[in-house]
Amino acid sequence: MPFKVLSIVGTRPQFVKEAALSPHLRKMFKETLVNTGQHYDVELCREQFDALEIPEPDFDLEVGSGSHAIQTSEMMIKLEDVMDREKPDMVILYGDTNSTLAGALVASKMHFPIAHVEAGPRQHRMEIPEEINRVITDRLSTLLFAPDSESVNNLRREGIETGVHLTGDVMFDIFLDTERALNESGKSPEEFGVERNGYILLTLHRPHNSDDRETLNSIMNGVLESGETVLFPIHPRTQNNLERTGMLKELKNRQNLKMIKPVHYMDMVLLMKNSRLIVTDSGGVNKEAYFCGVPCICVDFVSAWPKTVEAGWCVCTGSNKGKIASSIKNFNPEGERPLFFGDGNACPEIVKIISETFC
Ligand code: UD1
Repeated sequence: MPFKVLSIVGTRPQFVKEAALSPHLRKMFKETLVNTGQHYDVELCREQFDALEIPEPDFDLEVGSGSHAIQTSEMMIKLEDVMDREKPDMVILYGDTNSTLAGALVASKMHFPIAHVEAGPRQHRMEIPEEINRVITDRLSTLLFAPDSESVNNLRREGIETGVHLTGDVMFDIFLDTERALNESGKSPEEFGVERNGYILLTLHRPHNSDDRETLNSIMNGVLESGETVLFPIHPRTQNNLERTGMLKELKNRQNLKMIKPVHYMDMVLLMKNSRLIVTDSGGVNKEAYFCGVPCICVDFVSAWPKTVEAGWCVCTGSNKGKIASSIKNFNPEGERPLFFGDGNACPEIVKIISETFC
């Protein structure tokens, strides 16, 4: 009988991680794919699956949005049924979303070993929902695949040493492949109405930034003050908030702001690589800005990737308008970018470790 892994995804960043690892898993094991349906908008889900050529899920749970308790508990009920039927040898979880947490709680209660891909990053603020998901998932995992040495240190501080492997980051693996493909394709950001090196790329989706009108206003004004062209692919959460607060109407009048729908991963890499600067509250985009060698202004309390800050390529401003505006003007890193996130071989390394541990 082949070794059976059950991979659980549900949100856009998890589709990217699954796209990186799945081909490697499928060379060695039988993979069953579950999509919880946490992200369901066509731009966040279907377009990502198509662009990344992810295999069709074996189970589509269609859970959708809800409060944390509703969303997580509905996922748990449906995942329990899936795991009961499939009886996997191992459950693979990615990152730090509610889909990750639901998978961790169900698998551990049913005594299925968990492999956590992207174990160990911390922002050291328990009011961030992802931080809760990270801490609990890591505590319940058998194999913990850490993307950088800082993550290993965080786990050690929490007393977790067994099963921890510094593999590098699967997102760096897929980034390198995508960058090569983009170079060959000759695609240009002009398709999005912007010029190479001639725009700021903005993404926002964290609840503490996008759910509150004043905070959102402060960030938007800080970014727009520069007068530079700002390209803004809008996450549905933020889109809903901009509509609800009436801000969307006002923003449509801003000459230097281009608002577009969320783009799929390949286009996102294209837009990141060609931007002059990135302003974001996404941990994933913060890290990808570093891969691209583009300066990053992190509009969050603290970066989940402190190495990018230490190396001088990321600065954290929070939502403060003045700090954002002055960083856009003055932040101009030029230093080295050490390979904190591995050498692009995290995926084969992860498969090798699973195989050596269990097969
Ligand atoms: C989720 C993850 C976050 C991850 C992010 C990537 C949690 C707690 N958060 O945040 O870690 O970085 O995904 O994008 O798991 N919505 C839609 N359409 C969709 C999905 C969401 O309109 O397809 C709207 C709904 O109003 C929903 C809100 O966005 O209530 C929030 O969605 P949710 O999945 O709970 O969190 P994200 O902000 O997307």
